[in-house]
Amino acid sequence: MSPRSAPKTCHQFSQTTPELSAAEGGSQVVSSRFVVALTREKGKNDKLRDLLLSNERIRQISATTGDTVQVHELPCIEHADGPDTEKLSPTLSTSQFDYIVITSPEAASVFASAWIEVGRPQLGTVAAVGKATEETLTEFGIDVAFVPSKATAATLVKEMPPSKISVDEGRATTVFYPASAKAQDTLQTGLEERGFNVLRLDTYDTVPASWNADQILLAQSATVACFASPSAVKAWLENMAEFETPRALAYLGLQLYGGDRSKRQERETISADDGMKSYVADPRRTDTFQKIAYSYDEGIEKDELVMGINLLRRALLYFHAKGTVLEVGAGTGRNIGYYPGASTIRKIVLTDTSDKMLLKAKEKLSKMSNDERERYEVIVADAANLQNYDDNSFDTVVDTFGLCSFDDPVAVLEELKRVCKADGKILLLEHGRSRSFAGLSSYLDKHSERHAKNWGCVWNRDITNIVESSGLELEKLDTWHFGTTYYIVCRPSK
Ligand SMILES: C[S@@+](CC[C@H](N)C(=O)[O-])C[C@H]1O[C@@H](n2cnc3c(N)ncnc32)[C@H](O)[C@@H]1O
Repeated sequence: MSPRSAPKTCHQFSQTTPELSAAEGGSQVVSSRFVVALTREKGKNDKLRDLLLSNERIRQISATTGDTVQVHELPCIEHADGPDTEKLSPTLSTSQFDYIVITSPEAASVFASAWIEVGRPQLGTVAAVGKATEETLTEFGIDVAFVPSKATAATLVKEMPPSKISVDEGRATTVFYPASAKAQDTLQTGLEERGFNVLRLDTYDTVPASWNADQILLAQSATVACFASPSAVKAWLENMAEFETPRALAYLGLQLYGGDRSKRQERETISADDGMKSYVADPRRTDTFQKIAYSYDEGIEKDELVMGINLLRRALLYFHAKGTVLEVGAGTGRNIGYYPGASTIRKIVLTDTSDKMLLKAKEKLSKMSNDERERYEVIVADAANLQNYDDNSFDTVVDTFGLCSFDDPVAVLEELKRVCKADGKILLLEHGRSRSFAGLSSYLDKHSERHAKNWGCVWNRDITNIVESSGLELEKLDTWHFGTTYYIVCRPSK
């Protein structure tokens, strides 16, 4: 199935966006087809904004379309008090430490404000991780005496020397570490292992931001959203719960056009086996999955990231999966981890005809906690013939990017309908021909045989037609990527 859609042009920027009169607190007008939302905490998006706006490809988009690429800050995360916020000032007034260790600009601001409030008492040696942290402390009038050579807690643990006074006095070096409640324990445990005596206080926390109406409008209009953490993605989904499918696509960091295209194109041009008459029905086509099982994840990882497929997987399962779930054509288990927790989903049965693909899924499960792993069952089964399951067995039936691979996709959907409870749902995330871009579909048609032989996937199927022919009741159908990606929620209509 990989690569998932044919033209790797900048489709991310090409979905039309409604014109808006106000966004971001009413101060900025969103009136472009190309709207990028930057979702880090307020004030932390400037560097990425500057990089995007000076990016040559983005300039070209503006130049060729005459439409400006707009970049807006839309924080998904904000700061709140931590469990130890109230202990900070008393600790500063009453205790002395050899070191104060600060690891982020936020921690620096919280610490410095409390320090000023209690009358700027004498401090031990101040150590800062990262240039921005150092600068924030300096702005508040706090001298920084130690900065590790790399801006990581692990480097500070390795490089920070014991204080001379403590060595002279024959005692442990004392460290005060005001931290985020979300910070890992690398610094504290690392220093303790070296014999330091560390007091950590969780002086602030980061929580999902709750958006106002203008921010929701901005999110709705965004064609691209950049995320730097899973909690930001979660906050986006929570804020947009009412609107369901996120309108924006997700990227991590700066990877706007990732994916090893040269390698992929090289594979695509490998000449087809001329012996195949009907390439769709030829058993060698589905057998491809046995052969590509070990490279499958690696082959599509970047495409999925760049195209926001992960976000679509997460949204589909987050909003619609519940109870007992059957997933067919589950492959390497790319949806593992996107299913909601045990309070929503009791059991998930992953099935596929390829035992090799399922082996990769098992590997993923083996890295999960026992409780999580116990919710899953992994079984080799043909989606067109689920004879082990009675009628009406599952609350939710899932297929992601399987309709392109099954010999008879309509027969599979009919089988999914049979095993799904009358009040259950059938969730599909698929790719196929575009109904709105004929040129694109001709491209898919032209190269379909070669693509199927290389990847096992028939990428030019008419997904809407397949769903309608199976007699399922369409509850929701959204399309992405020029109409080639389908996000579908169905009812079995029994
Ligand atoms: C393109 S992969 C999709 C894998 C996964 N669902 C995902 O989202 O990445 C298609 C999968 O369908 C499986 N498959 C093909 N024919 C099948 C059938 N009749 N029954 C069950 N699985 C089948 C293949 O082995 C392959 O793992």
